[in-house]
Amino acid sequence: MKKLRPKFFKYQIKKLKLNLKYKLTKIDFRGYYSANNLGIAESGATGYEPCYNIVKYLKKCKPTANDSFLDLGSGKGCAQYYARKFAFSKIDGVELSKQLYDVSVQNAQIIGDQRIHMFNEDFVKFDKYNDYNFFFLYNPCFENAMQAVAKKIRASFDATKKRTVVIYNTAKFKDLFLNLGFKVLYNHKNDYILELK
Ligand SMILES: C[S@@+](CC[C@H](N)C(=O)[O-])C[C@H]1O[C@@H](n2cnc3c(N)ncnc32)[C@H](O)[C@@H]1O
Repeated sequence: MKKLRPKFFKYQIKKLKLNLKYKLTKIDFRGYYSANNLGIAESGATGYEPCYNIVKYLKKCKPTANDSFLDLGSGKGCAQYYARKFAFSKIDGVELSKQLYDVSVQNAQIIGDQRIHMFNEDFVKFDKYNDYNFFFLYNPCFENAMQAVAKKIRASFDATKKRTVVIYNTAKFKDLFLNLGFKVLYNHKNDYILELK
């Protein structure tokens, strides 16, 4: 018989929690979509899966009201839901898929936090990186697109000189950041908090 791993149970618990949240509040972070089904595979996207609770990672970075948060590949806005528990001045998200973006806008309306803004754009072309200094990435794309993102975040640090934090979950291409001078602030398994200051 096949051995069931802790990761499998963690995944099932996440699914149950998100289904319950939807039943109780109509906030919808549910579902798993491939990049092909979303029609965004050409951009180098991996697909949609909502993040696990990122509060423990955000606590490690000690954000203040002078910091602003951007989820790169924000899906339905799950990371913003958790980030709103912190003092960030802005809690924004960029999502390429119109289908997911539309759900994220509905979710934001239910949540009702005026600091949340959504953009339906490609994060490789997005031109507002300098407005943020906390970036969240949950394995949104393959290497070429991630290389472009890492360079954009590095350029925003060079322009603003603000402490810059990248929370990169399932950090398949973390070396792209390390090669640009980012240091590891914390890591747990394959999740990394990277920093420039
Ligand atoms: C694994 S999901 C994470 C969703 C969200 N960050 C969360 O944690 O719940 C990755 C998301 O990145 C989006 N994405 C991939 N490439 C993108 C791009 N070039 N520009 C904007 N969004 C992109 C996908 O559509 C998908 O919703």
